[in-house]
Amino acid sequence: MCGIVGYLGFREAYPIIINGLKRLEYRGYDSAGLVVMNNNSFGLVKTKGKVSELEEKSQNINDGATVGIGHTRWATHGVPNDVNSHPHLSNDGNLVIVHNGIIENYDSIKTELKQKGFVFHSDTDTEVLVNLIQYVKNSENLSLTEAVRYALNEVIGAYAIAVMEKDQPNEIVVGRLGSPLAIGIGENEFFIASDASPFLQFTKDAVYLDDGEMATITLGQGVDVRKIKDNLQVIPAVQELQMNLEEIEKGGFEHFMLKEIYEQPKSIRDTMRGRLLVEEGVIKMAGIWDHQERFLNAKRIIIVACGTSYHAGLVAEYLIEDLARIPVEVEYASEFRYRNPIINKRDVVIAISQSGETADTLAALKLAKEKGAFIYGINNVVGSSIARITDAGSYTHAGPEIGVASTKAFTAQLTILSLIAIKLGKHNGNLSTERFNALISELDSIPELVQETLETTAEQVIEVAEKYKDAPNALYLGRGYNFPSALEGALKLKEISYIHAEGYPAAEMKHGPIALIDENMPVVIIATKTGHYEKVVSNAQEIKARKGQIIAVVNKGDQEVRKIADHVIEIPNSSEEFSPILAAIPLQLLSYYVAVKLGRNVDQPRNLAKSVTVE
Ligand code: F6R
Repeated sequence: MCGIVGYLGFREAYPIIINGLKRLEYRGYDSAGLVVMNNNSFGLVKTKGKVSELEEKSQNINDGATVGIGHTRWATHGVPNDVNSHPHLSNDGNLVIVHNGIIENYDSIKTELKQKGFVFHSDTDTEVLVNLIQYVKNSENLSLTEAVRYALNEVIGAYAIAVMEKDQPNEIVVGRLGSPLAIGIGENEFFIASDASPFLQFTKDAVYLDDGEMATITLGQGVDVRKIKDNLQVIPAVQELQMNLEEIEKGGFEHFMLKEIYEQPKSIRDTMRGRLLVEEGVIKMAGIWDHQERFLNAKRIIIVACGTSYHAGLVAEYLIEDLARIPVEVEYASEFRYRNPIINKRDVVIAISQSGETADTLAALKLAKEKGAFIYGINNVVGSSIARITDAGSYTHAGPEIGVASTKAFTAQLTILSLIAIKLGKHNGNLSTERFNALISELDSIPELVQETLETTAEQVIEVAEKYKDAPNALYLGRGYNFPSALEGALKLKEISYIHAEGYPAAEMKHGPIALIDENMPVVIIATKTGHYEKVVSNAQEIKARKGQIIAVVNKGDQEVRKIADHVIEIPNSSEEFSPILAAIPLQLLSYYVAVKLGRNVDQPRNLAKSVTVE
């Protein structure tokens, strides 16, 4: 949801900012802009459209400037156009701001400022904020830092901001509440970014601001971090980043999504590394081990998440109930937070989130914490907001996921959830040592099976994609553990190809969706051998009887479904528990190739953004 970037140092700022914006474009890409400062003047350029369009328009930007800020936008207030793009200037032209988030009370502040003679050119909440800063700064004769602090105490909402003042070329003021902000610390230079990727090539030392903190970054002096509320000084913790540059580049693949799909054997292995010790017959997970009493005595586990992470949560419901016999409920975080849920101290609430920044998931977790539940995070991004507020948690270690459609994060989440379910099952005596050992050694082989799936299914998936790419609709069906796989397959297709797709439990088809089936309807059915196989075969027959086009994901050597299906895509045999990981692979590839064949922007599909930091 918008990316912000900034530089203050001795290098030319423009290339750092424009390249930083390219790295952050996954966060929002309907418009972009930047401002650099030289000789006490701002060189500002902004445009509707991609960062590449901004680059074309930036030819005459202030050469030699060594300070600047930039923004790539996912519109909240006001349509994407040049005027609504960031940065925004204050009325007196002395201040400039970039902002990620939403100012909820902007309308009332705008009315007050208008009464004081302020004029607004855009429809954005951000322009209101920069003018509020100008107003308090000038009327109270405050420094930029003081004025920003004062203004941030007036606004309600979520933000990560960076502000510059025309006659202060050595200073940038930043603040955060609910939207991420990292400060990269180099030798006599500083970087600002929504995530560390824009400055990874320059420094690995970073400070992540906490919610409610702001910082004044001054060349020659350093970073002064304060609490926005009471101006209390905070000693910033400098973290050493573990990420590599190669991890955030395409590495020869046409798209990040394809690269990330093919990374899955490695990302799943990385997720298990140090945790799954097959020879010793143990699963080591400090987050679970240190709090096993809470889990084993839990009245229930509630999982909150959104989108693909929610689908991982649905698989976890099967895993944890099956293997550990602990009751599980899975909820969309957005519904959970607003329905006055009954939660108490014996509940464990797990939040699953790739980014660790999803506003609804974060809010659901805060609510659960307030009500006394033990809160656990499963996140991919180290140091993210969710990771920081939870009582305990497990990182998925899938590496940076840049493609907007979640792929390797999903299978890494399934891997962590499998580890948790098996570990809890062992500790509460539900799994015998024999069964435990069988499950962990099979889980250990999953990266190789994922590799095999990639190698054996891609070609066939490409043929299927070619045949059905023009279908206006598609149905995805599955049962048991693979009912969530059907939901996830449908989500992947719709979000990047814009084909309408629905996922259903296969048996639900008779209760409505069957009316849609005719010879033009492709139906993707996940019919793995374990778990309700015969029943899924019957569902496939019902589809065929209505002339639907069946694309079946089956296990190797399947004979029954082959007789009915128009296309079979074989995945390796596995226990039912791990079949969603393997089934995810051809479904991801299918959505990818359909989208490519339709000429869609696979990594940056329309209207979406990678981390949804607004509700
Ligand atoms: C789908 C997708 C989204 C996210 C959802 C939650 O491919 O990426 O549905 O899964 O926005 O995001 P996180 O996991 O970051 O909380």
